[in-house]
This record gives sequence, structure tokens and C-alpha cells, in this order.
Amino acid sequence: MAENRNDLMDKLVSLCKRRGFIFQSSEIYGGINGFWDYGPLGVELKRNVKEAWWTDIVRKRDDIVGLDCSIIMNPRVWEASGHVGGFNDPMVDCRETKKRYRADQILVGEARAERNGEVRSLGWLCVLDGEGAREEFDRRASKFAKKTGGGNVVPPEQMAVFVDAPPDVQTAAIGPDTDNAGTLTAPRQFNLMFGSHAGAMQDESSKVYLRPETAQGIFANWKNVLDTTRLKLPFGIAQIGKSFRNEINPRNYTFRSREFEQMELEFFCHPSEADKWYEYWRDARYQWYIRHGLTSSKLHLRPHDPDELAHYARACADVEYEFPFGTSELEGIANRTDFDLTQHQKYSGKDLAYFDEETKERFIPYVIEPSGGVDRATLAFLCEAYTEDQAPDEKGVMQTRIVMKLHPRLAPIKAAVFPLVKKDGMPEIARQIHEALRDDGLASFYDEKGAVGRRYRRQDEAGTPFCITVDGQTLQDQTVTLRDRDTLEQIRIAVDQVVNYVRQRVR
Ligand code: GAP
Repeated sequence: MAENRNDLMDKLVSLCKRRGFIFQSSEIYGGINGFWDYGPLGVELKRNVKEAWWTDIVRKRDDIVGLDCSIIMNPRVWEASGHVGGFNDPMVDCRETKKRYRADQILVGEARAERNGEVRSLGWLCVLDGEGAREEFDRRASKFAKKTGGGNVVPPEQMAVFVDAPPDVQTAAIGPDTDNAGTLTAPRQFNLMFGSHAGAMQDESSKVYLRPETAQGIFANWKNVLDTTRLKLPFGIAQIGKSFRNEINPRNYTFRSREFEQMELEFFCHPSEADKWYEYWRDARYQWYIRHGLTSSKLHLRPHDPDELAHYARACADVEYEFPFGTSELEGIANRTDFDLTQHQKYSGKDLAYFDEETKERFIPYVIEPSGGVDRATLAFLCEAYTEDQAPDEKGVMQTRIVMKLHPRLAPIKAAVFPLVKKDGMPEIARQIHEALRDDGLASFYDEKGAVGRRYRRQDEAGTPFCITVDGQTLQDQTVTLRDRDTLEQIRIAVDQVVNYVRQRVR
């Protein structure tokens, strides 16, 4: 196992680029901050994540239906949802470096040094929050101490998040990327929605937004779904799609991007049943990640403290994962009460109440929202999968093997098929197996080039759970070697059993 956390991230990023999981967007032009492309293996992995979610949430249930809404909607939607007025991050600019930071992601503390029994102030020093922030603070404080007469660095009495620091501290602070004091602006609110204009006019009347979440398309269509299906409460509406946020500090690879995909479910129910459904979805969603391979102790379910809750939410919990760069949210499950439908009813002037024919009760339903990020889930699956172990090469010499232990349901390629050599009819049989797998909807890869050991290694890096080799014995008894990616166990199985075997194992 790769032990150092940053080391693991570097190795993963390099593997993802080398093997075509993830590329920087517009890389040939130097890239663009906060945007990523998925390569040939990555796109399959990501599609499998979405497919698994859609199958489990929509296709396998009678009480949930899907939607695919437009990204650009009537801008009134975003006034009703509160995004125009309130979807802001406090941000700070550095006048010297022209860099921009999120004010809630900078820590500030008084740097002090002690010399001959005397403690003196070196100034208010800022560092970016996150792993290693304290070490960075001490390193910079010690540099300042040396520059101004030496002494031992004394730990700050306390460190505050910049946005909470008093204004005189903010204006006197030394920014995270400068040695000069007083270059930071006071925090200013910055709306995270990307704006554009629809139509030829470029004025306020044509102003539109790229959706910052898929959820609002569901609320805006709640009545349409109610009227066109015969669903009765409780029921859910699900959507997967792109969302856009002009994040001030996109970081940690694909974790915080400016363009990303969400998989969101809005589950509507009677207010008296909301607590029960909240618990149901919180637990079901946590289990879903475990079921798809996040089995380690790195997955957590964290209920929010009451003071963390959004004003409209009654309860919320995050499914969190210990990424190499820190523990962060994969998905949030919230009881949003009747907030969203009430807002849309108010702003649209349309009646969005539900009428229960049996009880003759008319009410706005409560909604439980499990809201996950496709890219974040994909990144967590990649982090968890990355493994280095020792395995013998063709000559029996032990070598470090990189293997992506992705859950078979998510693996981009389910099986690779090799002829041992390119003669004696082996390629023909191998191709037939490859095609039979593909005809069954199982992603298969055919490879006849190079030593078989090297072909195995390439598939290990791609996360392919099974490798099937046609060899001399196949010609005699119609069996092939089937090698398991994780156990390295090799079994012989009949050619006509291969498709069945793989189908069973990739569920
Ligand atoms: N409708 C509720 C909502 O959008 P959120 O916590 O803002 O809630 C839900 O977002 C999920 O979307 C997050 O848990 C995360 O997985 C994903 N997400 C949010 N912002 C993201 C970003 N900048 N980059 C990648 N994924 C993001």
C-alpha cells in the first residue's frame, strides 16, 4: 500500500493520466482551472457509477421516477430557490499577487517569536486551511523571525478563520502567498452561479444562469410529474446531470470543480413521515457506497450539528470519505421540509399542494434529498481502489504491481481476453469469447500483443476484474484460464461458461 497520503494522491493522478482515466481539460492550451475531462477508461467508470445509481434508485423501484431537465431555466427559479440572493462565498483578493481566496479557507494567527525571554509579535500571518496548515504557519513564522532578529517561534494563542477575524486583523494580515502585510482586501460576497445571456440582447432582461444544482429542475416539475404519472405519496423524482459553480478555489483534483455532475433524488412524503424517510435514505445511501467498494474505515456517516443546518433543513447528514487530502463530503442527505415547494408556489403563483384523496387532506409535502456528486464518488472509488502489491512477473521475480481494485460493477472493462500466442487458432477462439461477452453487454477488451504477463499488468491498472487466456489446453479440452485480479487465483473454466461466469461476478 502507498502509505504517504500526498504520495498516494500523486501516484493516483499520474496513473489516471497515464492510463486515460482523467485528463486536464484543454490540456494542450495549458488547461483551465476547475475543469476536467474523463478519458476512455474514466468515462466508462463514471458511466458505471451513474448507471449503478440510476438502476438502484429508479429502475429497481416502483416509487421513484426520473427526469432530465434543461441546464438553463427561467431565472425566477433561482430567485425562488434563494440562489440569486444567497448562494455566495466570502472571498478575499490579494492586491499584490492578484490571487483570490475563499475567506473561510484561510486561517490567520499572530506569529510570535521569543528571544532572551522576550516574546515579540511578527505580525498577523495567513495560511491556507487544510492538511499541513500548522506546519506551513510555523515555517513562515520562523522565516519572519530570522529576518527580524531571530528567536524561537512561539505557537499563536489562537488561529481564526479569516472571515471571522476582526477587521483590523484582516487589514493588517500577511497573505498566504506574500511576505508583505496589508495586501488583502476585506471579505466580499461572491455569487457562485455562472451567468450568461439567452438570445441576442445582452442585458438584464436576457440574463440566465447555468444551474448550480439539478434539484431545482425537479421541484419546478413536481406538478408535471404528479399530473402525468399515477404516483401517490410517498414517491421520489431522480435526476443525474451537470451542474456548474464558479468555485473560487477549485482544488483537490476533481473533488471541487467548476463543472461537475450530480445525482440527486427528491423524495416527497407527508410531513408526519419525514423523519422516518430521512433515516431510511440516510442509511440506504451510506450502505450504497459500502456496497460499491468503499468498505474501509475511511467511509463515515456524519450527522450535522443543529448549528450547521441550513435554515430550511430539519436534519442533515453527510456521507464522508477520508481522501488522501483530508476527510470530505461525498453526498448530503437532508430533510428540506416543505421549503422548496413553498418557495416555488410563492414565486410562480401556481398551486403546488398535494391532495390526498383518502384523507381529503391538502398539504405541501416534505422532501428528503439525498444529493451526491458523480465526480466525487468516482474519485473516492479511484482512491480506494489504488493498491500496490507484490506479484511475480513472467520470470517468477517479485515485482511491485499497481492494481485498481474497483468493484466489478463499476470497473470500466469487465473482462480482457488474450490468446497466449498469435497462432494455432488461439486468436480466433479468443475473439469469439470477446464477442460473446460484448454481445451480452459486458465490456470486454481483446489483446494479443506482447508477453501475457504484461497484458495482465495493463489490465490490473485498468481495474479489469477478470483476464481470460486461450492457451494450448483450450485446443484440447475447450477450457480457458480465468485469472482473478484481486486474488491472482487462476482457474480453468469451459469456454461456453465464460459469459455466465463474468455476468454473475460483475453484478
Ligand atoms: N441540492 C443540494 C446540493 O446541491 P450540495 O451539498 O451543494 O447540495 C451536493 O451538493 C453534492 O454535489 C455534494 O455532496 C458533492 O458531491 C457535489 N458537489 C457540490 N459541489 C461540487 C463541486 N464544486 N465539485 C464537485 N462536486 C460537487
